Amino acid sequence: MLFKSIAAALDQSSLSVLCLLLALVSKINGAALNASHYQYYRVEGLEGTQVADLPLGIVVLQDQDMGKTIIRAANLTAIRWAHAVNSQQLLDEALAGDIEFIEADIVLGKLSGGDGDGDDMPVMAHPPANVSDLTLQAFLNQIKDFNDLHEGNEKGVKLDFKSIDVFEGSLDILDATIPSMSYPIWINADIISGPVDQNKTVPVDPNRFFAGCMRYKQAVLSIGWTTNWGAEFREGEYTQDQCDAMVETLAFNNVLSTGQGITFPVRAGIAANSEEQLHKLVAAVNETNESTLTIWSSDGDYVDVDKLRKLIFGFGVERVYLDVPEDLAAKLDLGNAGNGAGTFNSLVSFSFISLCFYAFSSWLKQ
Ligand SMILES: *[C@@H]1O[C@H](CO)[C@@H](O)[C@H](O)[C@H]1NC(C)=O
Ligand SMILES: *[C@@H]1O[C@H](CO)[C@@H](O)[C@H](O)[C@H]1NC(C)=O
Ligand SMILES: *[C@@H]1O[C@H](CO)[C@@H](O)[C@H](O)[C@H]1NC(C)=O
Ligand SMILES: *[C@@H]1O[C@H](CO)[C@@H](O)[C@H](O)[C@H]1NC(C)=O
Ligand SMILES: *[C@@H]1O[C@H](CO)[C@@H](O)[C@H](O)[C@H]1NC(C)=O
Ligand SMILES: *[C@@H]1O[C@H](CO)[C@@H](O)[C@H](O)[C@H]1NC(C)=O
Repeated sequence: MLFKSIAAALDQSSLSVLCLLLALVSKINGAALNASHYQYYRVEGLEGTQVADLPLGIVVLQDQDMGKTIIRAANLTAIRWAHAVNSQQLLDEALAGDIEFIEADIVLGKLSGGDGDGDDMPVMAHPPANVSDLTLQAFLNQIKDFNDLHEGNEKGVKLDFKSIDVFEGSLDILDATIPSMSYPIWINADIISGPVDQNKTVPVDPNRFFAGCMRYKQAVLSIGWTTNWGAEFREGEYTQDQCDAMVETLAFNNVLSTGQGITFPVRAGIAANSEEQLHKLVAAVNETNESTLTIWSSDGDYVDVDKLRKLIFGFGVERVYLDVPEDLAAKLDLGNAGNGAGTFNSLVSFSFISLCFYAFSSWLKQ
């Protein structure tokens, strides 16, 4: 399956492969995706480098083109998202649509149209809603059925659990479904109280959350902060204390030593103001050898677009997923990277090559 995807990608670009580290992409996402869903871009300045000498970065493909070695990296900002897929109609649209990732929220509640009796169960809805026409079980079953029928065009799933009770109440369903998933699965929760002076939403208990997640080694942990933001906000950042609290809970729960993929979901408008703290955060978890940012935004949120662009290019498009409304994505104009120096600098500022080999060798062993 992986080989087929690679072959398809190569046919498209008419390049012959020297060596493939596509397994790294599988690691980033928790499972392999069709290679053609990723845009690859040539990493300037690394031509001719031996794989063993690569400074790092999420280097995915090394092609041999006319005797020259060209290093390519995955452009994670090119992954397209369906956000808040919390009803049957939205799920139908997402499955039929040109997107690679489905994001949805889970609360304890009831199926609409029922008589209101019976126990609460995990349903797809965003608080304060607690009624839905779609249960978590039906949501996961339909995605699996779709993906089984669309080999090479599978869609990934990001599950945003809104409370520790709904997460723990979902473990039986996850136990029965995650092991048979051959596509990316992310488990998300806001586990730390965050900006700006957020005190309305109770964060998901991190210790209980990680205890549950330990069962799903293939899942990417998407762990963030509760937020308080909108159109009228200008000031506010992920503070050093809030970032330190994240690192402490990761260390306390031994998450960093497991090699499990980590992404930090950060709200665009606030992340734009937090460049320094977020660089420190990602550096502090470099023990896992891999972590990414997932920048998300609500419709209508205020975002300083120039600062957000700077943040994205500072990390590099191989480190940042972008789940934002289309108008913000268009304003970001990521095709226009200026001199491209940001990407190259980010490549040399992290040491990731050991993960390349770790991922590659574990892929070979499969
Ligand atoms: C769902 O919301 C209604 C109305 O706010 C509330 O009365 C009910 O207790 C809630 N149910 C759950 C399970 O939270
Ligand atoms: C990958 O996706 C592309 C575009 O959707 C499709 O044409 C191709 O057949 C897929 N590759 C595989 C191996 O299924
Ligand atoms: C939340 O913070 C606001 C502003 O700091 C404060 O006025 C309010 O009392 C706080 N609410 C709670 C429940 O702590
Ligand atoms: C991460 O990198 C360190 C140092 O480069 C290495 O010792 C360790 O085995 C790597 N861990 C994983 C999970 O790849
Ligand atoms: C990354 O993807 C974005 C969104 O599709 C695109 O605008 C940009 O040109 C790509 N960047 C590179 C370096 O390929
Ligand atoms: C991780 O970051 C720390 C602090 O920036 C640095 O001292 C250490 O060398 C880094 N380790 C790796 C494997 O990059």
